[in-house]
Amino acid sequence: MTRIVDTAEWQELAHHYEQLRDTHLRDLFAAQPDRGESMCLEAGDLYLDYSKNRLTADTIRLLVALARRAGVEQLRDAMFAGEKINITEHRAVLHVALRAPRGEQITVDGQDVVPQVHEVLDRMGDFARRVRSGAWTGHTGQRIRNVINIGIGGSDLGPRMAYEALRDFSDRSMTFRFVSNVDGTDFWEATRNLDPAETLFIVASKTFTTLETMTNARTARQWTLAALGDDAAIAKHFVAVSTNEAEVAKFGIDTVNMFEFWDWVGGRYSYDSAIGLSLMLAIGPDGFAEMLAGFHRMDQHFRTAPIEQNLPMILGLIGVWYNNFFGAETVAILPYNQYLARLTDYLQQLDMESDGKSVTRDGEPVAWQTGPIIWGQPGTNGQHAYYQLIHQGTKLIPCDFIGFCQPRHQVGDHHNVLMANLFAQPQALAFGKTAEEVRAEGVPDFQVPHRTFAGNHPTNTILVPELSPDTLGQLIALYEHKVFTQGAIWNINSFDQWGVELGKKLALDIVPELDATTDPALDHDSSTNALIRRYRRLRG
Ligand code: F6P
Repeated sequence: MTRIVDTAEWQELAHHYEQLRDTHLRDLFAAQPDRGESMCLEAGDLYLDYSKNRLTADTIRLLVALARRAGVEQLRDAMFAGEKINITEHRAVLHVALRAPRGEQITVDGQDVVPQVHEVLDRMGDFARRVRSGAWTGHTGQRIRNVINIGIGGSDLGPRMAYEALRDFSDRSMTFRFVSNVDGTDFWEATRNLDPAETLFIVASKTFTTLETMTNARTARQWTLAALGDDAAIAKHFVAVSTNEAEVAKFGIDTVNMFEFWDWVGGRYSYDSAIGLSLMLAIGPDGFAEMLAGFHRMDQHFRTAPIEQNLPMILGLIGVWYNNFFGAETVAILPYNQYLARLTDYLQQLDMESDGKSVTRDGEPVAWQTGPIIWGQPGTNGQHAYYQLIHQGTKLIPCDFIGFCQPRHQVGDHHNVLMANLFAQPQALAFGKTAEEVRAEGVPDFQVPHRTFAGNHPTNTILVPELSPDTLGQLIALYEHKVFTQGAIWNINSFDQWGVELGKKLALDIVPELDATTDPALDHDSSTNALIRRYRRLRG
């Protein structure tokens, strides 16, 4: 198979890059008066303005040709058809089935999976209604007021992010907390002021073998039993979300209280499966269904829109343009919405675990850059921390700005101030300020170079009417499919994560070596041996 970098499409882009690399956004805007209106796309409720990127209509044409050559559409169709495109694990990749409406058909190994999805959603809905109404009580008959999700990675970041994002839609009389870190502090802080008789734990783990989650789950069981003193309490205070029924039973959770999902749902693509149970308890089954509808709307767009108008594909292609031709190493994702405080954390796993690969789907080393480093936090806070480097540093950092037209709460004129900042930053990044403009302001000569902004820093702006379960679903699906598009172009498997296995395995080997009652013979490298010895000595 021809390597993507050896195709005529890639070579044409490389040539085009040489012609365009020094062109300033100021000139691109001057040459095309309607650029701001023409370089934009809409899908569902999302509006993407990509005009402040260092590209022309020709660039888009060439990128679209690259996507066609890489077979992005074919891989997408294979995913929707339930083919086993996760080749290293021989699994289908069907998070899109999690939000398929009742009656739609998506088959894996000849079996339609949509009815199973809805069966679990119905069970989740029934459970959520009982907990929220008080019909489901704890062991002592007290109402459940606290829900703690125990999970890590995809079994934590998604529900945690979405709970934060949608907390304004949640039942405020209930407390929701998330324990992920095996640092005991996480569990201790999450439970310190809660009454076990009113607390429900959701143990969320696809495999139900993850060291951190199982350690936290065992501690939660002890914490519950220490207060309630009866094994029968476990059935009222613990539910599991997993693909692994045998391990759930082994842990001691009745599988009647287990909500299932399937091996064709990747951990980082799973928060709209039963992994989102904590979120459903918070916002209710109707809110959850609304979110799934939002996801589905973007899925439909991704599945049917031509590449030129396909919002996730265009976003992915623009990312490829910077990653592979401009040599940008990172992407900043900057939501101007405090409720999206955890969006970037979530997108880090989605993108970096998916596309952080260095061999092709056929196992050959890649000779091109793959997934970027994703980082950022909500605006406007970052403006007073790291935007300096984006504006005047030496690195090229493409940014996605995400804003909402309606605030969740009318608090004075805060929202206009927030949004003014969202509009101003991409403007400043694109156009900068020339030395002449600075001088004309009467700035002393010695300060002029310091106060000059080169500009030409690329940004996307995504504008959404308002934050809701529906638009959150659309936004997350947008990024899922963007990551998909990029993985398809780079010819990597975006759906496995072997890279996290080695560290997990080594940690398991080291755990017994830290036990103070033993005197283990350490046979790691000299650095690891010395660190373990020092730790043992200082731990006492
Ligand atoms: O960090 C690796 C990983 O396998 C992630 O892909 C996954 O989301 C996380 O661990 C948690 O896994 P599990 O849900 O099986 O506990």
